[in-house]
Amino acid sequence: MASRGLGRMFMRKSVEQIQSEHEHGELKRTLGALNLILLGIGCIIGTGIFVLTGRAAAQYAGPAITISFIITGMLCAFVALCYAELASALPVSGSAYSYTYASMGEVVAWIMGLLLLLEYGLAASTVSVGWSGYCVSLLADMGIHIPPALTAAPGVEVKDAAGQVIAHGIVNLPAICVIAAVTCLLVVGISESTTVNNIIVAIKLSVVVAFIVIGSRYIDPKLWSPLVPAQIPAVAPGVPNDIWHQIGRALVAVMTGDNSSKYGIGGVIHGAAVIFFAYLGFEAVSTAGAESKNPSKDMPIGIIGSLVICTILYILTSAVLVGVVPYALLDTPAPIAVAVDRMGLPWFSALVKIGAIAGLSSVMLVLLYGQTRIFYTMSKDGLLPTALATVHPKFKTPWINTIIVGAVACCAAGFLSLDALSDLSNVGSLTAFALVCITVLYLRVKNPDLLRPFRTPMFPVVPILGAVMCFLLLMSLMAGIATRNFFLLYLVGGLALYFVYGIWNSKLGKGLTVSGHEAAPMELPHGE
Ligand code: ALA
Repeated sequence: MASRGLGRMFMRKSVEQIQSEHEHGELKRTLGALNLILLGIGCIIGTGIFVLTGRAAAQYAGPAITISFIITGMLCAFVALCYAELASALPVSGSAYSYTYASMGEVVAWIMGLLLLLEYGLAASTVSVGWSGYCVSLLADMGIHIPPALTAAPGVEVKDAAGQVIAHGIVNLPAICVIAAVTCLLVVGISESTTVNNIIVAIKLSVVVAFIVIGSRYIDPKLWSPLVPAQIPAVAPGVPNDIWHQIGRALVAVMTGDNSSKYGIGGVIHGAAVIFFAYLGFEAVSTAGAESKNPSKDMPIGIIGSLVICTILYILTSAVLVGVVPYALLDTPAPIAVAVDRMGLPWFSALVKIGAIAGLSSVMLVLLYGQTRIFYTMSKDGLLPTALATVHPKFKTPWINTIIVGAVACCAAGFLSLDALSDLSNVGSLTAFALVCITVLYLRVKNPDLLRPFRTPMFPVVPILGAVMCFLLLMSLMAGIATRNFFLLYLVGGLALYFVYGIWNSKLGKGLTVSGHEAAPMELPHGE
C-alpha cells in the first residue's frame, strides 16, 4: 500500500490527456490575443512601479534604477519565453501547475500549486496594500480622513506627510474592502470582468504614458549623474575596485543575503530584486489557456507582448522619475505623485492618483482570477475538494472557489505588512519561475517530439539562465529569517496536506480522467 502510494506521487498526466481535457472545458472561450495582452498589462503595471520604484532608487540603485529594470526585465524575458513554449504546447487552465503535472509528476505539481498560491493570492493582497495607500492619500486631498489605525496592518507605523509617526495600525480596512469588491466582480463572470479590465488598463496606460511624455520636459540631466552612485560604505583603500571586482562582490552579497550596502553595482542588483515584484503578472496570461480562443498562437503573443510593452514603459518611467526628483528623496509611499508635484501641475497629480488606484485594481483582478483558475484545475484533478470546481449555473464561474480565495486574500491584506506580503509573494514566484524553466529543459529532453507551436530560442541557454537568475534572487530574499521560516513551514504543511488528502483523491491515481472516464495511458508519449 505504502509503495503504491509513493508511486502515485510521481504519476504524470500524458501531454495528450492534458491537451484533450481542454477541449471539453466548461469555461467560456472569450479571450483573443489583444485581450490576453491587456490581461497581462493589467496584471503587470501596479504596486511595483507606483510604489516600490522610489524605494529601490532611494535606498539601493540611485539613478541606475533604470539598469535594475533592465536586469529584471531580462530575467523575466527568459522566463516568459519558457512560459510561452509551455503555454503554446499545453494551453489549459492551471498554468505552471499543469506543466509540472505533465513532466515532473503529481507531487511536484502539488508543490507548484502551493507556490502559485503565494504568487497570486499574496501578490493580490500586496497590491491591495499599495491601493490602500493611494486611496487614503486621494481621499485626504478631498478632505475625507480615515482613522490612521484603520489603514495599516497591526503594528505597522502610519506616518504623516512630514514622516512623523501618527498611529500604529490595527487593520487595513481599505485593502480588505477592495479585495472584497474585486472578488464580487470575479464571481459575476470573466466577460464582464474582462471588459472592466480593458477599460482600467486603458486608463492606467494613459497615466503612465502621460507621466513619461509630460515628465520628460521637466528632466534635469544633471540628476542622472553619476548613474551609479558610489558604494556606501565605501570600499576600503587598497581593495581592488574595478567593475569586475564590484560585480563579483555584488554576487557574493546576493548569495549570502548581505543587503547592508547601497549604491554601487551591489545596489543595482539589490534594486533589481526589490523591483522584481513590478514584473509579476506576465505569466498570469498562461492561467487563461482554457478561456483563450486560439491558445497556441495567442498565448505566446499575450505573454511576451505584455512583458515587452511593460519593460519599455518601466525603463522610461524610472528614467523620468530619477530625472525629475533627486533619487534620495524618492523613498515615499507615492513617488510618482512626488515627481508630479515637482512639476507644479496639481491637476495632473490628482489624475495620477486616480490612474494608480484604477491601475492597481486591475492588477488585483487578474491575480485573483489566476488563483481561482489554478484551484479550479487542481479540483478537477481531484487534488482539492470538488466544490472548488463547481461552476455557477448562470455566471459560468467557479464561484465557491472564488469566494474562498477572496476571503483568504482579504485576511492577508488586512493583517500583514507590505514588506512581509511582497517578500513572500516574490519567494513563491521565483521558485515557481525556476521550476518552469526546469520543466522546459525536462520536456525537451524527455519529450522532444511534442508539438510546440512556439519554441524558446537559444535552447538551452535561455531556460538555464532563467533558472540561475531566479535562484540568485531567491537566495537574497531567503536571507530574511522570517521569510525563510514561513516559506519552509508553508511547504512542509502543504506537503502534509497532499499526503492526507490529495494523494488519496487524485483522479489520476484512481485511473480516472477529469470527466470521470477511464484514464488514458499516464505516461509521456515519448522519451520514457
Ligand atoms: N507587477 C504587479 C505590481 O507591480 C504585481 O503590482
